[in-house]
Amino acid sequence: MNAAPDPGAAAAAAAGWCAARLAGIPAAERTIVILTGAGISAESGLATFRGPDGLWEGHRVEDVATPEAFARQPELVHRFYNERRRRLQRVQPNAGHVALARLARGWPAPVHLITQNVDDLHERGGAPSVIHMHGQLTQLRNRVTGEILEWSGDCWESTPCPRSGATGQLRPHIVWFGEAILETEAIDAALERPALFLCAGTAGAVWPAAGFAGLARERGAAAIEFNLEPTQISDRFHRVVRGAAGETLPAFVDALLDGV
Ligand SMILES: NC(=O)c1ccc[n+]([C@@H]2O[C@H](COP(=O)([O-])OP(=O)(O)OC[C@H]3O[C@@H](n4cnc5c(N)ncnc54)[C@H](O)[C@@H]3O)[C@@H](O)[C@H]2O)c1
Repeated sequence: MNAAPDPGAAAAAAAGWCAARLAGIPAAERTIVILTGAGISAESGLATFRGPDGLWEGHRVEDVATPEAFARQPELVHRFYNERRRRLQRVQPNAGHVALARLARGWPAPVHLITQNVDDLHERGGAPSVIHMHGQLTQLRNRVTGEILEWSGDCWESTPCPRSGATGQLRPHIVWFGEAILETEAIDAALERPALFLCAGTAGAVWPAAGFAGLARERGAAAIEFNLEPTQISDRFHRVVRGAAGETLPAFVDALLDGV
């Protein structure tokens, strides 16, 4: 009987494969692009987007993550994001976040960390810079002026904007379904010529992020997926590492930093 594959060993083997691919590229040109999704924060205790019941923290996505939902029931949407913001204050980054931060700090070429996550666990795990393409829980936006505010407490329709003094103007600075992603210039620049594309904890169901792996490969990148399960985009990757990101990413990063 074969033993179950060890995720750490599989991750280290994938790093060895990457090191061999990168060997012919000058060190300063070995740009890495990393895309993360809700799965990387799951081991910290934050629910992923669609649980086994198809709901996000008990809600249908259309009821809490669309502009129409906010127009219809602003207090319900505020309450949902207030709960997410409060929960975020009670959780900590995990070994996956810390490993990616170690990679970004120790790698000889640029490392662009793009996240679909709205939490701040990459930053708190030590990542030097993070591209938040779907916004952040710790920010609000004034719908009238467009101003972005750092925010740690609750927000309701009755909460006055600290700048304008008016109520009913603040909303979560979150990209909802049907809205344009943020940071497009930084993302385009990052994806211009990556040598390595790493994708961790995303189901590959939300666009345009789901298209980044294919784009990176077309542009010559070696592409590796880290996920517990097969995803809608697994076939875009050269290598797939199955397992929990908190186990596979540290093993991968250690082996990659050792081997190149
Ligand atoms: N933490 C957050 O910020 C958070 C949480 C929930 C939803 N979201 C939103 O969800 C949307 C995108 O969906 P998504 O693709 O990022 O998430 P998703 O919930 O659709 O998919 C999560 C993926 O992570 C995988 N996964 C779960 N636990 C894992 C682990 N421990 N290690 C490795 N993989 C694991 C699952 O198999 C799945 O493929 C984004 O718009 C994002 O803003 C963010």
